[in-house]
Amino acid sequence: MHVLSVASEVYPLVKTGGLADVVGALPAALKPHKVDMRVLVPGYPAVMAALTQGKVIHGYDDLFGAAAKIIRGEVHGMDILAIDAPHLYDRPGNIYLGPDGRDWPDNAIRFAALSTVAADIGRGAIAGYQPDLLHLHDWQAALAAVDLRYRGGPRSMLTVHNIAFQGQFPASIFPRLGLPVAAYAMDGLEYYGNVGFLKGGLATADLITTVSPTYAREICTPEYGMGLDGLLRARRQVTHGIVNGIDTTVWDPGKDESLAATYTARSLSKRPMNKRALEAQFNLESGDGIIHGVVSRLTWQKGLDILTAMLDGLVATGARLALVGTGEAGIENAIKAAAQRHPGRIGVIMRYDEAISHLVQGGADTMLVPSRFEPCGLTQLYGLRYGCVPIVARTGGLADTVIDANEAALSAGVATGFQFSPVDEPSLQNALQRAATLFAQPKQWSLMQRNGMGADVSWEKSAEHYTALYRSLKE
Ligand code: ADP
Ligand code: GLC
Repeated sequence: MHVLSVASEVYPLVKTGGLADVVGALPAALKPHKVDMRVLVPGYPAVMAALTQGKVIHGYDDLFGAAAKIIRGEVHGMDILAIDAPHLYDRPGNIYLGPDGRDWPDNAIRFAALSTVAADIGRGAIAGYQPDLLHLHDWQAALAAVDLRYRGGPRSMLTVHNIAFQGQFPASIFPRLGLPVAAYAMDGLEYYGNVGFLKGGLATADLITTVSPTYAREICTPEYGMGLDGLLRARRQVTHGIVNGIDTTVWDPGKDESLAATYTARSLSKRPMNKRALEAQFNLESGDGIIHGVVSRLTWQKGLDILTAMLDGLVATGARLALVGTGEAGIENAIKAAAQRHPGRIGVIMRYDEAISHLVQGGADTMLVPSRFEPCGLTQLYGLRYGCVPIVARTGGLADTVIDANEAALSAGVATGFQFSPVDEPSLQNALQRAATLFAQPKQWSLMQRNGMGADVSWEKSAEHYTALYRSLKE
């Protein structure tokens, strides 16, 4: 089975969030199921730098304004197809945002190009390669489903990683997208008089998936659907929730080079060496008391404004916090101010740093994820694998992957973390309290750590599910 995966980011070449991790992990996860997956991505500078040995396999005289090439190369065991189009992708810094922190003004065109190339490849543009289907990720690739529907080609699956990002643009952009006029329709790309990339994809893809069963249900409701719930209800029959796995080779506490000491469930006694390293890295006072960890984009979605408002109280209980993240200025500033009020108790690193994110998982006692909504969430999965006990909001994939330490789960000895709901201060407060109580009982705590480390967070089951859906599309 040949599947072309299409996305705007892929780990380890270019990553702003969990989407990259998932797109980067799927090819290897699917290989045992006899799925040959190539990954089509824009040729950003980091991608082109990794493909210096790549081969040109196709050329465009004019791809949305200038000549372009498709380059194929093997990177980290992945079969990568990159769109070498400097007029669209050869820009420094963030892949979505200009230096002013705003979306690049031509994002509609940049990602329409990604979709156009994907659909062309679907229709056989590359000699000797005919994908059986296209697996599209998020709004940046969604237009390919529209293209294939209106112009023909293989079938498509669209995966929604986050319905908050929809790719909406004024209708005036439509003539520049290179699609047939008929596609500007209610069952196509048109969205309340605008153009909606994700909306178009959801309306036209043969199958829709999202990254957890709970989120699949949630987005059918007005509360979580962000305007697309009606369409999703209408397409419920073809919508599936498949929880993400993690790359257990990249995230392996037994082999992790970013840790001060590697460990397994059987050698948890070595874990405190990472706690010492974490204290040093985040300028925290040293001690055995609880350290809460956060690895996150600092946005409204992630609920970190709620946590920030509680930090004085948290520190008063003796707890410490190690946070690595970047995001909205308001949240960043509030956290920085809290860190200044509580030197040695609150440590923050405000940048994107993959190695430090591993150290937090390996050294902190808990992984806090107070998200208002969370399609899947990966940091709680890394937390489980690293014995960094997750404290999560009961929503989306967080609800599906953490077993709350309620009385029943505790007496059965199966708890892996803490859930709270609703997402507000009192209930987060309550979860932090419950965590502190159990943390004071080392036997209970280490049982919870070992339960988490033994939980199946691999791609195994989900890869099977994807493969079954691919098969249903190929038939
Ligand atoms: P989302 O994709 O919504 O941001 P996920 O939990 O699915 O949430 O994925 C976030 C990914 O980004 C994880 O791999 C996490 O470790 C990583 N991450 C987030 N912020 C940082 C940061 N400041 N430094 C390093 N990694 C980060
Ligand atoms: C999105 C979601 C996150 C999910 C990730 C990978 O970024 O916000 O919950 O884990 O995609 O699917």
